[in-house]
Amino acid sequence: MGDSQFVKKIVCVGAGYVGGPTMTIIANKCPNYKVTVVDISQDRIDAWNSDELPIFEPGLQERVEKVRGKNLFFTTDIDAQIADADIIFVCVNTPTKTFGEGAGSAVDLQYVEMTARRIKENATSDTIVVEKSTLPVRAAQALGTILHSGNNSVHFEILSNPEFMAEGTGIQDMEFPDRILIGSQDTPSGNAARDELMKIYLHWVPKEKLITTNLWSSELSKLVSNAFLAQRISSINSISAICEATEADIEEVSMAVGKDSRVGEKFLRAGVGFGGSCFRKDILNLVYLCEHYQLHPVAEFWRQVISINDYQMDRFVKRILSSLFNTLAGKKIALFGFAFKPDTGDTRDSPAIYISKKLYEEQAELNITDPHAIPNAKRDLQGFEDRVNFIEDPYKAAEGAHCIALLTEWKEYASLDYQKIYDSMEKPAFIFDGRNLLDHKKLYDIGFNVYPVGKPALEHS
Ligand code: UDX
Ligand code: UDX
Repeated sequence: MGDSQFVKKIVCVGAGYVGGPTMTIIANKCPNYKVTVVDISQDRIDAWNSDELPIFEPGLQERVEKVRGKNLFFTTDIDAQIADADIIFVCVNTPTKTFGEGAGSAVDLQYVEMTARRIKENATSDTIVVEKSTLPVRAAQALGTILHSGNNSVHFEILSNPEFMAEGTGIQDMEFPDRILIGSQDTPSGNAARDELMKIYLHWVPKEKLITTNLWSSELSKLVSNAFLAQRISSINSISAICEATEADIEEVSMAVGKDSRVGEKFLRAGVGFGGSCFRKDILNLVYLCEHYQLHPVAEFWRQVISINDYQMDRFVKRILSSLFNTLAGKKIALFGFAFKPDTGDTRDSPAIYISKKLYEEQAELNITDPHAIPNAKRDLQGFEDRVNFIEDPYKAAEGAHCIALLTEWKEYASLDYQKIYDSMEKPAFIFDGRNLLDHKKLYDIGFNVYPVGKPALEHS
């Protein structure tokens, strides 16, 4: 069958954590659209075309299988697909810059710019370009300048349509979104492009959940959404330190505060700190933006969200060190979980990376276990292999260990046989529950010294 059966052709540049799942849902919900995901990485594309997808996301595999080869395609044939597209989503990565001006805080826009140039060179008819990657405010302006430079007479209309899905619940977040945000220019062609994009979402999203704004508000709202979420975590983590000092219990405080409907209950779980590819990067981006506009007190305010997150990870390591008699040299520590959150194999900016390196510096030997993240953990800890072991079975990881540090709240860790684990460990046996997942009283009764976050420790004298 040819392409004539499709009302529109969508191309997505970037087959990553955002591009892959987003396009899978659009293809599932809009059988009358042809959706093609392109990427510069042949390996990534091969993986999307295989039985082993490049990312783990609950519910993704079956949705890919349902439409792959029908109206969802993965290819490295970028230029030809761009030439054929009506709508192009830009989903390439936008990491924090590691060099030059703004290193460590500004966004590295080289991949977005390269993509824009490629679109300009290959587009053959008027095209809607959708920013899905998280970008600094007013990035659409730069994108527009690049796209309209040179001799190409094609008209490009730029929209901002940030992604709000969280990993692990990505499919649910996309199928039942809180809102879909579309930013556009207030011109006839801007409004027409916005309506085209709305048409796609209206296949499954109720109209009242579609929010339209100007381009800059949309770009900024993505940064601010993530900054607010991260700020709640740093707020509760800062209070967890007070709880540990005063014998207040962070879960009780969190519950009491969150019951106020003006505050709300979500995102108030204390832990070892937030990770993931977005929070740190987006706050740094916001801080850089504030500094660019000379808004230094505002920059300082948001920078503190990151400082508290770093402090929380440090506190966790220091608590392990001081509880294990101020020396970790030669001691074996089992790390339960390495992903930045459960139900994903993603380890980008995971607190586990920082904590592992700190423990390693103290000359501990690490046994790392995780149901899905071991391949990524191996990459993150390259060069540390002399004292880091990767062990799939948590029971084996804990064997002969002095201490367990739980860093990701995988639900399987809650139902392990901790008596069996305790029996196989060095004594005294310590457990640091960095996510307050476990039954602390039960662990204490087994014989463990137990250290939750933001609660009094349960120690045997
Ligand atoms: C996304 C967003 O795009 C980012 O801005 C947001 O803040 C977080 O999520 P993500 O999908 O997680 O990024 O990134 P990644 O999984 O690294 O995927 C990006 C893909 O783009 C990679 O597969 C990479 O090969 C591809 N890419 C990159 C291109 O195809 N072309 C390029 O020029 C650069
Ligand atoms: C986040 C945003 O939630 C999502 O809307 C956006 O599109 C991308 O960034 P993600 O990073 O995938 O999603 O996961 P999220 O569930 O937000 O968790 C981020 C981090 O915060 C994790 O490390 C998690 O463990 C931590 N967290 C979350 C807490 O420590 N406490 C909480 O109460 C909630």
